[in-house]
Amino acid sequence: MKSRTPAKVILFGEHAVVYGEPALAMAINLYSTVDIEKSDELLIDNSPPDRKYHSFILTAYEKSGFALPVHIRVRSSFSPSSGLGSSASVTVGTVSSLLAISGRWSKEEIARIAFETEYSVQGRASPTDTSTVTSGGGIIISRNDVESRLWRIEKNGIEWNVGRIDIKPLELIVASSGIRGSTALLVSKVNSFVSRNRFGMDVIREIGEISRSAITPLMDGDLETIGELMVRNNKLLNILGVGHELTTRIIDSVLPYSYGAKITGAGGGGSVLILPRERDAIIEKLESMGIKYFRVSMDREGVTLLK
Ligand code: PMV
Repeated sequence: MKSRTPAKVILFGEHAVVYGEPALAMAINLYSTVDIEKSDELLIDNSPPDRKYHSFILTAYEKSGFALPVHIRVRSSFSPSSGLGSSASVTVGTVSSLLAISGRWSKEEIARIAFETEYSVQGRASPTDTSTVTSGGGIIISRNDVESRLWRIEKNGIEWNVGRIDIKPLELIVASSGIRGSTALLVSKVNSFVSRNRFGMDVIREIGEISRSAITPLMDGDLETIGELMVRNNKLLNILGVGHELTTRIIDSVLPYSYGAKITGAGGGGSVLILPRERDAIIEKLESMGIKYFRVSMDREGVTLLK
């Protein structure tokens, strides 16, 4: 049974969402596939699993409650630790294929098991990535109730409502720094900042305010306002300590030709999300810096079964 799952970008609110503030995310047209067949022993890409390298897939297998051994084959058109939700995409694909084999396929169930998997591997997580790549389209994750709610997920006293938002189509460029930031380490770095610093929670709340103010501009396609909010969100992410010298250099180089640009995902390297004003000038800049980039648009389907 084969599943195809998109990647995602977080438009606003990464890190703050772990503390219950709203985040806005969008599934994008880069994909991973996970193909699962019954087998005599548990295998991942022809080898016995090693928790060091296959922590997400192995935990997803355990949490899906599938009792029989299987062979899991994974392919991805985007790299891990790039801030595009590769672990979520592969986790969701694994859960989707296992639930399909056992006749239990449902997007809500996939999103729940995939979130439990990320939470247990990372030690702390929000359902943003897993719910976005499961559902597809534009997504809001919020502690408060949301319109068009898809599902509600609760963990350790924090409750997240996951809903759809009807984003106007956006043309985006994702520039990859090539530096792998570990989401788990960055989430715990922010946690130390927030618990040790008197102003830590203020920064988290201000990011939440930015996400709330971005909803209407995203629905209206108001690129000027979206861009300004991206720049403000990025400054706050830098204060939380998840910036990186190279992503800052990328952002500074493309900003003159953009409505806005920011880190997307956990940071510490990873990817930069650019809302282009002059697309060709940005591409020229990135190429002159030797930076790999993707032009992306929205995926509307989320996880799908291919056979
Ligand atoms: O780097 P990514 O794509 O895994 O995004 C992580 C998003 C965080 O808000 C930093 C963590 C989370 O679980 O929400």
